[in-house]
Amino acid sequence: MGKVPRNRPGSQYDEDQLGFGDIFTEHMLQMVYSEEDGGWQTPEITPLQNLVLHPATMVLHYGQQVFEGLKAFAGPDEDDILLFRPDMNIARFTKSCDRLCIPAPDQGLFMEQMSKLIRLERDWIPKQHGTSLYVRPTIIATDTHLGVRPSRKYLFYIILSPVGAYYPEGFEPVRIMVTDKYIRACRGGLGEAKTMANYAASLLAAEEAHCAGFTQVLWLNAVDKLSIEEVGTMNIFFKMNNEIVTPALEGTILPGVTRDSVIHFARELGHPVVERQVSIEEIVKAAENGALQEIFGSGTAAVISPVSHFRYKDHDHMVADGKTGPVARQLFDELTAMQTGRRSDPFGWVVNIGK
Ligand code: COI
Repeated sequence: MGKVPRNRPGSQYDEDQLGFGDIFTEHMLQMVYSEEDGGWQTPEITPLQNLVLHPATMVLHYGQQVFEGLKAFAGPDEDDILLFRPDMNIARFTKSCDRLCIPAPDQGLFMEQMSKLIRLERDWIPKQHGTSLYVRPTIIATDTHLGVRPSRKYLFYIILSPVGAYYPEGFEPVRIMVTDKYIRACRGGLGEAKTMANYAASLLAAEEAHCAGFTQVLWLNAVDKLSIEEVGTMNIFFKMNNEIVTPALEGTILPGVTRDSVIHFARELGHPVVERQVSIEEIVKAAENGALQEIFGSGTAAVISPVSHFRYKDHDHMVADGKTGPVARQLFDELTAMQTGRRSDPFGWVVNIGK
């Protein structure tokens, strides 16, 4: 590998205007799996480069792919590089690989190589509040073959992208549209795996929601179209009657790292949290009789995203007077403070790979 460029490209973008997912750092990690060569080959950090793929590459036809999303944060000391619960992302990656018949890389090697790449690109970690270096580990099936079967070759790669807020609204509340026209996943399907098919399945509903002036879609259960699942890129929480409720993990929704963190955090802050089935009718009723106090989403990219309005069956409902509620605000502040090393970490979630 050539000389490492140390020129942090502050001149190429303004940290205030980062947005999400358009800027990439100079290097990537690549590791090839080949059944005939005995499995995983030696990982390599290379300059960021295009992938050259034969038109019959299996991922392009049958979608055998898994990815993750996590963030590296600048900490209070110049040397700090803080990762938030990377073990959970790596474990979920392995689980998703199992579901997609993909041989997962060794978890220790994953962590070691990812840390090495991030350390190399440390000058790209933005410093401003609300920014971070987004890490996107991905694995794709690279066999060239048109029959439907698991691939015998894979490419595991990691790319890095300095990011700001995921939604154009930033931490301002978003509007969500409940769909009973499309479904995202059903039990036994791919819903709890982090794989491209789930996002492809969400696009049409999301486009229709955007055209109607909404930021995201709230998905309902595929069977009864009543119980609530998740929002396009987030898990969802409701505060009703002073209790926080979130849909239980029953095999169709993504087991979010931020979701799990919110549950622990909220309890630590004294809020009761219940994981259970929650129906859209219950939420509509709570909105109508005043029991619904807040709705917010959680996700690595979205962090905590308050919801100001939701539409269900052509009726619009306003939440928390259309403003950010106090619990969403508190959780956002506490979570981002922990991720950036500005508050204590009683759970041992923050891993400093910088020193
Ligand atoms: C994340 O929160 O990291 C996600 O994966 C959401 C998304 C941008 C697909």
